[in-house]
Amino acid sequence: MAGITDSPWRQICKIWGADVVHTEFVSVDALYYDSAKSLKMIDYKPIEQPVVAQIFGKRAELYPKAAKIVEQLGIAGIDINFGCPAKKVAGHGGGICLLRDLDNVKKIVEATINSVKIPLSVKTRISLNTVKGQPEKGQITVLDFIEAIKDYPISAMIVHGRTYETPFSGPVDLEALKSARNEFKKHWPQGVFLINGSFQTVESIIEDLKYTQADGIALSRSLYGQPWLFKQIKDYLKTGSYQEISKEEIIDTAIKHSQLLWECKGESGFKEMRKHLLFYVKGHPQASELRRELVAVEKPKDVEKIMEKI
Ligand SMILES: Cc1cc2nc3c(=O)[nH]c(=O)nc-3n(C[C@H](O)[C@H](O)[C@H](O)COP(=O)(O)O)c2cc1C
Repeated sequence: MAGITDSPWRQICKIWGADVVHTEFVSVDALYYDSAKSLKMIDYKPIEQPVVAQIFGKRAELYPKAAKIVEQLGIAGIDINFGCPAKKVAGHGGGICLLRDLDNVKKIVEATINSVKIPLSVKTRISLNTVKGQPEKGQITVLDFIEAIKDYPISAMIVHGRTYETPFSGPVDLEALKSARNEFKKHWPQGVFLINGSFQTVESIIEDLKYTQADGIALSRSLYGQPWLFKQIKDYLKTGSYQEISKEEIIDTAIKHSQLLWECKGESGFKEMRKHLLFYVKGHPQASELRRELVAVEKPKDVEKIMEKI
């Protein structure tokens, strides 16, 4: 997730039991032209493995070089973003709008697969309208997407259960996710199918997993301020119950997170910690007082002092 899944956050997710973590998405064009900023975004620590680099872009001819750069860094896999609805990506025909040209989708997948040995996964949404603002003119769905790439060795697929037209709100379409899962398994019986979107509680996540028969879940915003969801979900699956998180664990996680962020980005990048801290104290009885202090933190010591009061 752009602006969220940097190395410190990925490490925190790993500590709490994530099986696989993804980098923020990185432009294939930027990798192709050796952008130092983009290389930094896919830099990782050994604890993050298996870490997957997510890449995006519409020019198939740039993928081989970009994919090789990722592979040479020792990254475990590549995920291609075919789902982003953001204007700066989809507005230029990238992300989810790539599905409007399924021949180009094939070219991108083929170019990537032919240039590296590491596994390839893809992320998309359940559908988009073919003509902007005119749903009556038909839709391209995840099933069309699967049909287009079915002959390539795809290792995993993440499907966000919303459409291009309902980018980040409203319920996810579990029926569409279930159909996508069934279609995926026809072509890649050994592949990993993950559902994504709007999963809030441990119980609802397990219900949706069971209903769709997906192999797992790709967690996004539901992790904000509660990376321990990974452990809770796994405990629940294993034993039928899970522990609420303790105050000490929240404090330790927030402090550890701030130390990792400081090590990774130093003083200039530390302000990014503030948004995470607001999530860590969400629901706390003194949340509004805490928020006033947390939005001013400059260094890990400040976080320690404030968090110890909670
Ligand atoms: C701030 C933000 C950044 C995101 N960045 C990415 C990204 O880089 N790559 C991606 O595949 N999805 C990205 N997404 C989409 C999420 O991965 C996810 O598909 C979406 O939020 C739905 O899941 P949720 O309802 O569980 O959050 C982003 C979402 C948000 C809110």
